[in-house]
Amino acid sequence: MIENDIKIRDPDIKDLEDIVHINRVCLPENYPIAYFIELIKSWQKTSCVALLNGRVVGYILMRVEGGFSTPWRMRSTKKGHIVSVAVLPDARRMGLGTMMMHDILKKANLIKNMEQITLEVRNSNYGAIKLYENLNFISEKIIKSYYSDGEDALLMKYLLE
Ligand SMILES: CC(C)(COP(=O)(O)OP(=O)(O)OC[C@H]1O[C@@H](n2cnc3c(N)ncnc32)[C@H](O)[C@@H]1OP(=O)(O)O)[C@@H](O)C(=O)NCCC(=O)NCCS
Repeated sequence: MIENDIKIRDPDIKDLEDIVHINRVCLPENYPIAYFIELIKSWQKTSCVALLNGRVVGYILMRVEGGFSTPWRMRSTKKGHIVSVAVLPDARRMGLGTMMMHDILKKANLIKNMEQITLEVRNSNYGAIKLYENLNFISEKIIKSYYSDGEDALLMKYLLE
C-alpha cells in the first residue's frame, strides 16, 4: 500500500485560491476574498494549511486579538481566535484536522502572554465539537442565533499553559 504524504505548513498567499475553494465547499460561512487575503497575510504564523500528496486539502485560520488587563494584573494578554477550520470531504477522518490543530496550539504556545484560544462552532456540528474536545477544548457557553440562519453557536475555549 502506498503511504499518503502529509504536510502541515504556514499558509502562503499562493494558497488563496485553494483556501477559498475549501471554504466554499465545506462551510456556509463564506467570507469575502479580501478577508482571506488579510488573514493569510497578517496571521500566517498563527494559521496553517494541510497538504495531502502535494494538494492543499485543509486550512485553519487563527487571528490573535488583544486581550485585557485587570487592575490587579497590569499586563495585557492575548487571545487566539480560530476564525475558520475546514478539510475537504475526501480528505477527512485521516487525522488532518487534528494535526492542524496541534500545529496551531504549538504556534500559540510560542506567543508571549497568549492565554487562551477560542472558537465558535455550530451546536449541531458533532464531528467538529468531538475533534475540539479530544484536544481539551472546553464548552464555555451557547451564543444564541450566532449564525445567519439562526443556529446557535457553542463557544469553546482552550487554556494555554
Ligand atoms: C471538522 C473537520 C475539520 C474535521 O477534520 P478531519 O480532518 O476529518 O478531522 P480528524 O480526522 O482529525 O478527526 C479527529 C477526530 O475528530 C472526531 N471527528 C471528526 N469528524 C467527525 C465526524 N464527522 N463525526 C464524528 N466524529 C468526528 C473523531 O473523534 C475523529 O477521530 P476518529 O477519526 O479517530 O474517530 C472536517 O470534518 C470539516 O472540514 N468539516 C466541515 C467544516 C467544519 O465543520 N469546520 C469546523 C467549523 S467550527
